[in-house]
Amino acid sequence: MTAFLNGQYLPLAEAKISPLDRGFLFGDGGYEVIPVYSRRPFRLDEHLRRLQTTLDGIRLPNPHSAAEWKDIVLHLVARADFEDQSVYIEVTRGADTKRDQAFPVGVAPTVFAFTSPLSTPTPAQRESGIAVISAADIRWGRCDLKAVALLANVLMRQMAVDAGCAETIMLRDGYLTEGAASNIFVVQDGILLAPPKDHRMLPGITYDVVLELAARHGMPYEVRPIAESELRAADELWMTSSTREVLAITTLDGEPVGKGTEAGKPGPMSRRMYDWYCAFHDEVSRRADA
Ligand code: PDD
Repeated sequence: MTAFLNGQYLPLAEAKISPLDRGFLFGDGGYEVIPVYSRRPFRLDEHLRRLQTTLDGIRLPNPHSAAEWKDIVLHLVARADFEDQSVYIEVTRGADTKRDQAFPVGVAPTVFAFTSPLSTPTPAQRESGIAVISAADIRWGRCDLKAVALLANVLMRQMAVDAGCAETIMLRDGYLTEGAASNIFVVQDGILLAPPKDHRMLPGITYDVVLELAARHGMPYEVRPIAESELRAADELWMTSSTREVLAITTLDGEPVGKGTEAGKPGPMSRRMYDWYCAFHDEVSRRADA
């Protein structure tokens, strides 16, 4: 498998970085995960814009222009053996000769990228929806940046795995923030509710696509803070991300999501949104071919 490291394409197994790299020592860097359908990166410009926002937010000069990043991504995508991919890119503040929290002077950033097969939910997960748990959001104050310092997210995801669940939904001060590696949507009385993009959550690229599709297809939606009580009384819950796409959550903390005979099953609005999402990325790939 081909990787990109500091200006060179090389087999992934040969890509080596220093143990003094600040990504390793401090989690001092930013990253992106870009889905690729039929060898067409989906929403690449938006992912590269968010990378720029992350790097600006951590005061790390972007080592590549958007055009250079596109070249790197397309080069990796073209050389992979698979059609649908997930491209990972990471920039760290590089490796100094000593360990010091303050920024090093005159040190080049480390740039790493590689691509893997896109691993989307299984047909069984789509059919039954997934189970999640909830927990207090213990992360720092800049969750809007896609930083590689992900220890709290790692602990949250593992908490879900230990409970036999697919994700942990986080709550801060009684309000929904997001999942350990996803954004969360709530459906209540036919209205799609989304928490507002602020420093408490990552501004998801899939989140934006979902709201655009809701607007395009006339699905009513509101962007506003969502209280824990609303989360627990939801008719539907969804998680979204570049790799999970749009996925129904059917159990929260052991309780079925929804009411009546539909409780614990993927709801009609999640099915509709997932269909629109698939049709949309197909349409975008076809347009790129035109
Ligand atoms: N994670 N919130 C968090 C904390 C995330 O880590 C992610 C995605 C999202 C969804 O963002 P997007 O729709 O742009 O993928 C929200 C990626 C997939 C990851 O870290 O692997």
